[in-house]
Amino acid sequence: MEFLSFREKLSLANIGHPKKRKEWKGARLAIKSALDSIQLPYPGFYKDTHGKSHAMDGYGYVSLTHHGDYSGAIFHKEIPVGIDLEKVREKTVTLGPKYLDDSEMEFLNKDPYLHTLAWSVKETIFKCQGKKGISLRQNILLQPFTCADQIVKGKIHGTDFADHHYAVKVFAENDMILTYTVW
Ligand SMILES: CC(C)(COP(=O)(O)OP(=O)(O)OC[C@H]1O[C@@H](n2cnc3c(N)ncnc32)[C@H](O)[C@@H]1OP(=O)(O)O)[C@@H](O)C(=O)NCCC(=O)NCCS
Repeated sequence: MEFLSFREKLSLANIGHPKKRKEWKGARLAIKSALDSIQLPYPGFYKDTHGKSHAMDGYGYVSLTHHGDYSGAIFHKEIPVGIDLEKVREKTVTLGPKYLDDSEMEFLNKDPYLHTLAWSVKETIFKCQGKKGISLRQNILLQPFTCADQIVKGKIHGTDFADHHYAVKVFAENDMILTYTVW
């Protein structure tokens, strides 16, 4: 954790719960590794009032995720990004009406993998736009997809902002799903 900024070291010192500390550290290791791979220095990151992270030097866009023992991060020099990691869970089917539109529930067919993927894609789009107050069910609508699809498309609609369309890449391994914006 030597690479962390002074401010980040303070934030870490304030996280008491061991699981939360591990997740927080894992996400920072992931973004450090992403930046190393494109030969960029680690600038340190801060959170805005919505919880979204931004580089201290104002350069580029970042998104972080963690789930259990896994963490992920995405960085882009010019365009906003979102990323999410989820474990396939049966519960995503029964929770469907909370985060899905009726039209989406039809093509998801009560399948736990497809439901978890829909959840992950919506969280990815949510994290890309970054503002609280966007509802997964009412404001993020997905185009029909199947388990063979590696890109899922969705849009933000019905808000004060103009409709915005997103393409989200899917990477699934065992019971884990990783999704991230590719525009
Ligand atoms: C904030 C939220 C996107 C986090 O997603 P998650 O799957 O619970 O957790 P993840 O590990 O994937 O992501 C956590 C990271 O998201 C980032 N994050 C938090 N708020 C964010 C925001 N408004 N925009 C973008 N990124 C955000 C943070 O970097 C956080 O990591 P950190 O605390 O280590 O810095 C999610 O909790 C949320 O609020 N979703 C809103 C939609 C909703 O209503 N969900 C429930 C539907 S029933």
